[in-house]
Amino acid sequence: METQSIWFESQNNFKFSSFEGKEEVDVAIIGGGITGVTAAYLLSQTGLRVKLLEAGRIGESNTGRSTGNLYSVVDKFFEELKSKYDEATILTILKSREEAINFIEKTIQTLNIDCDFKRVPWVRFSGTKEMDDPIQKEFVIAQELGLKVEWLEEGHEMLAPLQGRVGMKLDNQAQFNPYLYVAGVADILSHQGCGIHEGSRVNEIEKNEDSFTLTTDKGTLVTRHLIEATHTPIGISALQTVLGPYREYGIATQTTKRLSQDGIYWGHYQKGKVTSVRHYKDRLLVIGEPHKVGQGSSIERMGKLKNYAREYFGAEDISHEWGGQHYRPADLLPFIGQRLGSRSYVATGFATDGLTYGTVAALIIKDDILGIQNPYAEIYRSSRITPLKSAYKFIKENLNVVQQYAGDYLRHDSVKKLRADEGIVVNENGRRYAINKDQEGTLHVCSGICPHMGCIVHWNEGEHSWDCPCHGSRFDRLGNVIEGPALKSLGPVYESQELDIKRRQSEAQQ
Ligand code: FES
Repeated sequence: METQSIWFESQNNFKFSSFEGKEEVDVAIIGGGITGVTAAYLLSQTGLRVKLLEAGRIGESNTGRSTGNLYSVVDKFFEELKSKYDEATILTILKSREEAINFIEKTIQTLNIDCDFKRVPWVRFSGTKEMDDPIQKEFVIAQELGLKVEWLEEGHEMLAPLQGRVGMKLDNQAQFNPYLYVAGVADILSHQGCGIHEGSRVNEIEKNEDSFTLTTDKGTLVTRHLIEATHTPIGISALQTVLGPYREYGIATQTTKRLSQDGIYWGHYQKGKVTSVRHYKDRLLVIGEPHKVGQGSSIERMGKLKNYAREYFGAEDISHEWGGQHYRPADLLPFIGQRLGSRSYVATGFATDGLTYGTVAALIIKDDILGIQNPYAEIYRSSRITPLKSAYKFIKENLNVVQQYAGDYLRHDSVKKLRADEGIVVNENGRRYAINKDQEGTLHVCSGICPHMGCIVHWNEGEHSWDCPCHGSRFDRLGNVIEGPALKSLGPVYESQELDIKRRQSEAQQ
């Protein structure tokens, strides 16, 4: 099955032109996910000239691969947050996220966007005895923080279909179709004269004295302010050393059993792992099984989600399966705001809480551009340095990067045993070739070296992409950039018939 998110069922309703020619604007936004489109909406309302450039399709990247869940809490346990932040900071984080959800709801009402928004409870529960205590502790901390949480005793009807034991519930959270929301807002903006463009990859960013020049295949855009709403900063950034890139998976299926009521359900069946379950119309969505980019099997992870849906809900046919990417910040908080000494903005490190954090980011960046003091800007400041809070994670993430370098440079492999939709990186004459075989048996070959900072890419067999384990750049089977900080593709591509000749030519030229 080709992977496709459930949210894209209605994607052909929206079309946006690609950017061509030469223009000058006040704000250029790179990236058409929830952060970029929300920023475009907010800033275009102020009278500024705004243009948004999306490399692929609007809402199709990670926004359209998310859960569609909106919650004021975060994916980490309160206990972990408390180990790094005081109560006032935690409450500020929760408040910023709650206001973002309210903003989304108001925007949907104002623009009359049909995206299945509804208020639902959020539930965190234990699925095994060993997780009872951690959930009980979370409940106590949540009460101490003043949250209106409700304790769910063993046997509660909300937990029964999930074979949950005990849990906690927080009302008034929300769910929607994230793709319809983002594409719907973008559609309205484009009809109001705000430039929203897809198929417009930015190949180069040049910093001038008081502006930036962005170059795409067909155009040049000069802007005073630049927002990199690209999930992770483009090109090389120090922030990449404190961000861990992860992939997580989702499936959608019709089931014989349903939850007793709609909601956001986070199940803890074992320590350090969460399975997220929700309904969307007649389907059940199960999301989870993350691994670091390039360091896990997507097929195996999606298989675990399918097994869960079968075992707990009697699922039969899986209608959709997909993967999405997130970046985990070392100190648990996103990085939002201005890059030092420039009018360029980043918004990254949202972990799996990106729909809400993306909205928080757009609100903060809008205020900064307008010279308004945002009450949440300081805690998410992108230039903050938190050596103690980040130290362990920083070392862990970068040690992992070094291991990837070392491990890959020592590995030898062969293409002989490659089956359809498999890929491998081989070392030949001191060069790394990333080789994959398509369904027709054609071999596609490109450089195995990530153009961002030189790590070796890995084949993602479930999503048919080359994934870089270091900072999360991803490339399609031909080597074209899908996402991540890399601006350039993986280099020359050959097909099997011409491989030997072209490889020799390429090596001679290099
Ligand atoms: Fe940084 Fe590949 S994404 S080296």
